[in-house]
Amino acid sequence: MKKIGILNGVNLNRLGVREPEIYGKTTLEDLERNLEETAKTLSVEIECFQSNHEGALVDKICEWTDRGFSGLVFNPGAFTHTSVALRDCIAGCAIPTIEVHISNVHAREEFRRMSLIAPVCAGQIVGLGLAGYDLALFWHANVNGALLVAK
Ligand code: DQA
Repeated sequence: MKKIGILNGVNLNRLGVREPEIYGKTTLEDLERNLEETAKTLSVEIECFQSNHEGALVDKICEWTDRGFSGLVFNPGAFTHTSVALRDCIAGCAIPTIEVHISNVHAREEFRRMSLIAPVCAGQIVGLGLAGYDLALFWHANVNGALLVAK
């Protein structure tokens, strides 16, 4: 069974209480529990991890890569806009990654439009709320690694 890592970065442990008008009222714990249900319906396994520390996220990406995970769903939080280390890690691990943002970062402050992570990802889902995580999981389960026939 495919294993997918669900990775949340800085401040995402505060989901549910942090700016609920932007990020909603669902907690990280509830999000992860819901994703476990989605994973079952998609016949994939997930592991979830959140950290406010860049190095801990780097270590987890390397660990999951070495354990043969087939992909990542990653919301780096504010590290999106600042972290060369996380970008280098994803590029170096060559693990297929979907970057997810709960809010529409393009409709907010100018600095949120720039992602250092996106260029080394397979794709990016923004502004679809928590459903973005489920959609990214669907891609990993059904599209990533599948033989796509063009004709
Ligand atoms: C976010 C968007 C980032 O700009 C912000 O720093 C976050 C959350 C999102 O999910 O919309 O922490 O990644």
